[in-house]
Amino acid sequence: MCDPEDMKEKILSAARAIRQNTHKETESGFRVVVAGKGGVGKTTITALLARILARDGHTVLAVDEDPQMNLPYAVGVPRQKSEAIVPLTKNIDYVEEKTGARPGDGWGLMLTLNPDVSDVVERFGVRGPDGVDILVMGTVVQAATGCLCPENALLQAVVRYINLREGEVVLMDTQAGVEHFGRSIAEGFDQAVLVTDPTFNAVQVARRAAVLARELGIPALHLVVNRVRSERDVEKVRDLLGTEADFFTDIFVLPYEERVTECEPDVGPVLADGVPPSPFVEGLGALGSALVRYGTKEQV
Ligand SMILES: Nc1ncnc2c1ncn2[C@@H]1O[C@H](COP(=O)(O)OP(=O)(O)O)[C@@H](O)[C@H]1O
Ligand SMILES: [Mg+2]
Repeated sequence: MCDPEDMKEKILSAARAIRQNTHKETESGFRVVVAGKGGVGKTTITALLARILARDGHTVLAVDEDPQMNLPYAVGVPRQKSEAIVPLTKNIDYVEEKTGARPGDGWGLMLTLNPDVSDVVERFGVRGPDGVDILVMGTVVQAATGCLCPENALLQAVVRYINLREGEVVLMDTQAGVEHFGRSIAEGFDQAVLVTDPTFNAVQVARRAAVLARELGIPALHLVVNRVRSERDVEKVRDLLGTEADFFTDIFVLPYEERVTECEPDVGPVLADGVPPSPFVEGLGALGSALVRYGTKEQV
């Protein structure tokens, strides 16, 4: 049996090894964090972007960092399978069951030797429609209670620092608000999608998140104005932003889409609807293309 302190040290050293082994300059995939006020559409947008990028040939890992854990439903993982998901950082037994080893004797070592996204996903993830892989972290709850579990450190290192190959994309949905949007959330990400709706409070949160993201060194900040019903909504957001609109790399407008409300929680059918696609789906496609463009331009 492994001594707990020894085990802890082994896992932490695996996390450190992944961080040190990162090659951001040569990495050819990219990572995007999605943030904003509660209820503005982060989970909907993350899920649909994940599926759009996957259909486009990318290998997508969608990470749910929101303790509400509703991303799997939105991506379209069947309800029973979604309900059975145990957040990784909460259940060492689950890790044990998946790997046949207690964290630290084998698990950490495996990742140190073979820090590879597909390996982690195969062991800890759930596969959704269009081949989108989903990892449910459940970490923010623990961060809030001050938990510095080594398993948490290891998974965080995987999501943020593991080297992404060409065509590999990490999309991370976060919990509502901006209070927690600090270094620990932004770390490792090169793009942020800041979602707002046409309300004062949501725009305030997006602005504050943008300032933080910029301070934390995320180079590309995409603003998404979601659930827009009229040109006046867009003008309102522009007025609220004022000169701070320049703060964002680009701005995308997504109309209110009745089908989203009808289909939720699994919003996938929205993508299949209608030829030609709705303006909402077209807007998401434009956002997806911008992420890819920016994600790959960075590497040149
Ligand atoms: N463009 C849209 N049109 C209509 N309803 C939307 C749109 N985007 C999101 N919604 C709905 O708004 C609600 C909140 O969306 P959600 O993605 O859960 O937000 P968040 O993750 O930011 O809390 C959900 O009921 C969702 O179906
Ligand atoms: Mg959400």
